[in-house]
Amino acid sequence: MKNSYERFIRPLLFSLDAETAHHFTITLLRHGSKFDLALRALKAFQPSPKPKALFGLNFPNPIGLAAGLDKNGVAIPAWAALGFGFIEVGTVTAKAQPGNPRPRIFRLPEQQALINRLGFNNDGADAIAERLRQLRRSGRWPAVPVGINIGKSRATPLEQATDDYLYSFRLLRELADYVTLNVSSPNTPGLRELQDPKRLSELLQAIGREPRAATKPILVKVSPDLSSTELEAVLAACEENAVAGVIATNTTLDHSSIPPALDEEGGLSGAPLREKSTALLREIVGKSSIPVIASGGIFDAKSAMEKFQAGAQLVQLYTGFVYRGPRLLREIIEAEK
Ligand SMILES: Cc1cc2nc3c(=O)[nH]c(=O)nc-3n(C[C@H](O)[C@H](O)[C@H](O)COP(=O)(O)O)c2cc1C
Repeated sequence: MKNSYERFIRPLLFSLDAETAHHFTITLLRHGSKFDLALRALKAFQPSPKPKALFGLNFPNPIGLAAGLDKNGVAIPAWAALGFGFIEVGTVTAKAQPGNPRPRIFRLPEQQALINRLGFNNDGADAIAERLRQLRRSGRWPAVPVGINIGKSRATPLEQATDDYLYSFRLLRELADYVTLNVSSPNTPGLRELQDPKRLSELLQAIGREPRAATKPILVKVSPDLSSTELEAVLAACEENAVAGVIATNTTLDHSSIPPALDEEGGLSGAPLREKSTALLREIVGKSSIPVIASGGIFDAKSAMEKFQAGAQLVQLYTGFVYRGPRLLREIIEAEK
């Protein structure tokens, strides 16, 4: 049976172009984040607590908001009120940037999928750091862990990627409970090459040399399109550099399940990504003891259970949340009991 979001709100949102619907929702949640009454209303969706400790942090439940939904960190209190057990802001880049030309988000309802080629549109590390500082001062900072996901600015050549990440890291680390290095989005040319072991080690070593680096959990978000050999090298680099966790996975460039007439350039997420992303998760858990946050195709309690049973410590939602709404959180947590 459809929940009330699926019956009443989704048809309205899906009558708009995908990015307009996204802006509309974010604007509502951004305003809602400023009013206690609105936050109280959103709490109607909250699932019961299911605490989990990881990376030295306390998560009220294991279901997080995946990166990309709130790139600029404008609605953090609202996500917490809805019941997310942690919130990942970003991807944030050192320089503010507009991203690719529109249209750049596409819905595929039959496939329960999205394709996006946003290209890290965001306000930039300086503006986002200031916004997060203000939120901390306002007393509305949520009680759940907040991660910040950082990536490379498009204008920065790959050879200078490390400095670009360091710029954002230095500005944002004090404000975050953990920092994710995104080296796996398909929409910034060359970004995925940072998964190459030599480049990844250089980046991780540079981050590790920062003062008090060891006090902040560093996570690496990987692509589902890595081969076994590539994955092994990524895991070795992560282990050598004391990476706290891996997020598996980002969107895929494998569009083989999408009818050509519906296909678009960009990263594919949602149901068609599920299997591939779970397979990579299993491989990571089999090869390494690094804790994994699973992301990719979680649409219901069953697909979430699949991730936990495969060894994920935490999960994150994006496309499933767009299709199923905030009730999805409770659905997953109640099934886990
Ligand atoms: C429109 C859109 C924008 C995204 N933006 C980002 C991003 O900025 N950084 C990132 O690390 N992942 C981004 N992602 C990937 C998601 O965080 C998630 O890892 C991926 O979509 C797989 O999960 P899902 O199948 O539940 O959507 C984005 C995904 C979508 C659909």
